This record gives sequence, C-alpha cells and structure tokens, in this order.
Amino acid sequence: MVNPIGDSGGPRHVAIIMDGNGRWATQRGRPRLFGHHAGAKRVREVVSGCPEFGVKYLTIFAFSTENWKRTQVEVSGLMSLFRRYIARETRALFEKNVRVRFIGDRVQLDDKLVQLMDDLEQQTKSCTGVNLTIALNYGGRDEVARATKRLAEDVKAGKLDPADVNEETLPRYLDTHVLPDPDLVVRTSGEARISNFLLWQSAYAEYEFVDTLWPDFTAEELGRLVARYGTRERRFGGVAV
Ligand code: FPP
Repeated sequence: MVNPIGDSGGPRHVAIIMDGNGRWATQRGRPRLFGHHAGAKRVREVVSGCPEFGVKYLTIFAFSTENWKRTQVEVSGLMSLFRRYIARETRALFEKNVRVRFIGDRVQLDDKLVQLMDDLEQQTKSCTGVNLTIALNYGGRDEVARATKRLAEDVKAGKLDPADVNEETLPRYLDTHVLPDPDLVVRTSGEARISNFLLWQSAYAEYEFVDTLWPDFTAEELGRLVARYGTRERRFGGVAV
C-alpha cells in the first residue's frame, strides 16, 4: 500500500477510541471477552500500519476510569488480557522499533500489571519509530484533577508561581506531557462521543466517527482516514487564508 498523502499534511498523532468489541462478540454469539481478544489483535495490525501513513504517534484507549463499572468477569478478563498482551508483545514491539508509554492512573492497577507496564516502557525507551501510548485506567477529567493536585503541590512548595499557571505550564503536569496533541481522534463502532478521552489535548483535533466495530478495523481503514484528514483545513480558531 502506498502512503496516500506523502510526508506532509498527514496527522502526526492519531488517537483511537477502540469501541465495539462487545457488540462484535455478541453478534457472533460469543462472550464479550472474545471481542476484546479479537480487538487486541487489531492493535498489532494498526500499529504496524502507522509508519506507512506517516503517523508518528498513536494513542489508544484501552481501559477508562469508568470501565470499572463493568462486571467483575469482564474487568478481570481485561486485566489479564493486558498482562498477557504486554508479556507477549514486548519483543515484537521492540523489534518493530515501537516506543511504548502508558497514560492513566496506575494506583488502582495490580502490582504485576504495573510491573509489566514499567518493563515495557523501559525496554522500548530507546526505540525511535512509532510512539505507541496506551491509555489504561485513563480518564481525561481524572488526569486534569491529578495534574492540578501536583501543580498545587508545586505552588505550595514555592516551585511554581500562581502567576505562571497558564496554557503552557499546566500541560506539563498532564500524563501526556511528552506527547504532541492529537491531530486526529478516531472512534469506531458508530458512537459519536469522546467519553472522557484526552479532553485537554484534543481541543483542536479533527474527529472521525466510523461505523466499523474495532475488531474489524484494519490498517487500510486507518490509511483512508489519514488520507481524508489530508483534505481538511485546520484553522485553530483563525480564518482561512
Ligand atoms: C470498548 O469496546 C473496548 C474496551 C473497553 C477495551 C479495549 C480493549 C482492547 C481493544 C483490547 C486490547 C487492548 C490492548 C492494548 C491489548 P466495548 O466493550 O465497549 O464494546 P461495546 O460498545 O460493543 O460493548
């Protein structure tokens, strides 16, 4: 497949809300976790497609701060899927030169999972290809609240002057502080909402809501969305020139 847009004009950072695993499984008369396993396979394919489309940063929503409300079976099945996925994919991600980071609150996650997340970040930290960020126990409001807490502690410790709190300094406290803002946010499965994903960071992102259920999403479809992005005009609140 050729790069549909060349090196310029494409989204450098794509963020994806991977939705529809449950419905995909239900349509096949299978338990919801079957859909999550199928979804995990798609992650591999989509990450592999990124270099071809000029996507340097890919951020995926794996588990939200609200997802704890699901049944215990589904939550523990997802946690075990994350553990297995990380353990299994570490080598392949390193070999593909993918740098992995996690965002979200690790406090509620089990120690074994946190250890695997830390190891994966460490083992891929010299990788210079695609930057894959996995949002795990992530919520945009929770992230802003945690950032604000740290910011307030710095103010209290005299490290930050309240007069210097602005749009430049606040994001330094966000989980995403080393990442550029997303250019394109994609949600699969026909739902048109952002569900607490990258609220601060996506202020000027372009959005694509596609009907495909996540386990059916392909690198080729990502390529089509990237190409369409190239035809959009981003004005960031200004006017067309
Ligand atoms: C949303 O579909 C999906 C999730 C809450 C989990 C996302 C997880 C994966 C794609 C699995 C693997 C990810 C990694 C990084 C290994 P849903 O369950 O809300 O689907 P529904 O709306 O059809 O019920």
